[in-house]
Amino acid sequence: MKVGGIVRPPGDKSISHRVLMLAALARGTSELRGLLTGADVKSTARVLRQLGATISPIREGGPVRVARSPLTAPRSPLYCGNSGTTARLMVGILAGQRFAATLTGDASLRRRPMRRVTEPLRQMGAEITERGDGLPLTIRGGRLRGLTYQSPVASAQVKSAILFAGLTGNVPVTIHEPYRSRDHTERLFAHLGLGIHEREGAIVLEPPNRPAAIPPFHLSVPGDPSSAAFLVAAAVLAEEGELLIENVGVNPTRTGFLVVLERMGAHVERVNLRDEGGEPVADLVVRPAQLKGTEVPASEIPTLVDEVPVLAVLASRARGATVFREVGELRVKESNRLELVAANLRAVGARAEARGSDLHVAGGDRPPRGRVETASDHRLAMAFAVLGTLPGSDVKLSEKKSVAISYPSFFRDLRTCFA
Ligand code: S3P
Repeated sequence: MKVGGIVRPPGDKSISHRVLMLAALARGTSELRGLLTGADVKSTARVLRQLGATISPIREGGPVRVARSPLTAPRSPLYCGNSGTTARLMVGILAGQRFAATLTGDASLRRRPMRRVTEPLRQMGAEITERGDGLPLTIRGGRLRGLTYQSPVASAQVKSAILFAGLTGNVPVTIHEPYRSRDHTERLFAHLGLGIHEREGAIVLEPPNRPAAIPPFHLSVPGDPSSAAFLVAAAVLAEEGELLIENVGVNPTRTGFLVVLERMGAHVERVNLRDEGGEPVADLVVRPAQLKGTEVPASEIPTLVDEVPVLAVLASRARGATVFREVGELRVKESNRLELVAANLRAVGARAEARGSDLHVAGGDRPPRGRVETASDHRLAMAFAVLGTLPGSDVKLSEKKSVAISYPSFFRDLRTCFA
């Protein structure tokens, strides 16, 4: 297959959630461009509207306006759909509000752990009632106290929930992480002058005034490197050609997959490097490459946590074996990604196995053939769709519509690369 042309990935999902939340808390009207139109971001907008925020419709291409509107008690439970980021970051925002709210979500989200955020927020003084470790839960925020927290997981959602609680509750927080997770919240807080800095490897928020005044802002969201990763992978697996992927966020806390790809033998060129609202952005030039296996250590995982499925797919086409160390977190994503990546690779004729918290993948060159169970997980659907672009392949996905969570135009864009 020959790859070619120019594609633009959709807006960054992590940044889209955060800018919507900050705009809803800001004192004035903000204007956001390039927001992801995927279902997860619409979940955040819906929840913020239930809390009284005024947000114009989120449509492809158009700017989204968020007007000043103090948050008020919701009349019904806040439905977060499939979105872990909505649920976990909103709990942080609600910790600083003097009313009670109940959060819930779809069956996948209700199974995902919430104690990792409710535990530190309780230490800050929020009252939280939950049954077991998950949604639904009810939070009554209010008068908070400052917190110094050693997070047991390298999770940007945990870190951001605490930062949002510090911001809305007007109290200082200090967070230590085992490894640095994505830092979009820190960059946005810095961009808006909200009193964030780093001290001896820890993230420190000292809200600048009382109550913290968040200025309204205009911001353009860069393209999502996690969505671009599927296009990069498809181009690397092609036989000839060159693909230009425009406007991709290249924040180093997100681009671990490019580092791993380089080790595997694929060099992705970054051109036209620029800054967009405190985030580095570039265009990527990708060419086909012969891959070799590699070891991905635990320290690298936070920088590529959402790219393990697509990297595992690439590893199954490499020369030699690949191992991803300590990827137990993948068990509590939108699906049990650790088991499902391995099982689905086996289902299409590759060799892969989860051993303890490690994922082992053997390389090979037989055309992949078989049925893939996506478990309605968008990243599994897209990773295995990439495998289905190989000559002689016959990969059947159990469903395709889950891609709308993070990349509504994925199949159209993938076709464009091979048109
Ligand atoms: C996200 C953080 C990551 C990632 C998720 C989005 C975020 O989750 O997997 O897709 O926007 O903060 P964890 O914080 O659980 O690692």
